[in-house]
Amino acid sequence: MQSSIADLIRSRRTIHQFRLNKLPAREQIMAAIELAIWAPNHYATQPWYFYILGDEAKEKICQLNAELIRQKRGDQAAQMKLDRWREIPGWLVLTCDVPEQEIRARENYAACCCAAQNFMLYCWSIGIGVKWTTGDVIRDKRFHKILGIKSSQVKVVGLFWYGYPEVIPQTTRKPVDEVVTELP
Ligand SMILES: Cc1cc2nc3c(=O)[nH]c(=O)nc-3n(C[C@H](O)[C@H](O)[C@H](O)COP(=O)(O)O)c2cc1C
Repeated sequence: MQSSIADLIRSRRTIHQFRLNKLPAREQIMAAIELAIWAPNHYATQPWYFYILGDEAKEKICQLNAELIRQKRGDQAAQMKLDRWREIPGWLVLTCDVPEQEIRARENYAACCCAAQNFMLYCWSIGIGVKWTTGDVIRDKRFHKILGIKSSQVKVVGLFWYGYPEVIPQTTRKPVDEVVTELP
């Protein structure tokens, strides 16, 4: 592996705080998606679809999420979440075709996860941070409706927030020896 790729993989972090009001250009996100879809995919199913959300769709999702929070934790928590979500600059949704056969569905999901990593790594290489989220809102039927998804054979892989990092968190991994077993 070339060191630039190694550094990129190692340095990428999930970004939780973005610089406000600074949205990466659509062309940059399109370039990241074009690279995402070079991910491996068994039987060449290319099971991925990407939705770049504009202000109207974002606001609908923020409202839907606030409603879900309100039901569980009340008005104040919902308002706080609404205020916070509205500040997030870039919104992308990745969906996956889910065929009936379980093994194929798993392989499609795996392919989409590879695509997601391609997307995030390319973004990171051009200074754009991403957070992959899988909160309750993505499994709500109304979320599908906002995206215009009709088929029941489509799953949302995640909501990807993107923008320029305000804070880059630090994290660690286990030493590689701990996760490797060598067999004779
Ligand atoms: C499938 C998946 C779902 C995730 N969902 C969330 C989420 O809902 N909220 C969140 O804060 N982070 C989420 N993350 C990000 C992880 O928390 C993050 O990758 C982990 O803390 C390691 O940090 P790093 O990405 O900076 O290495 C998700 C990551 C993956 C792969």
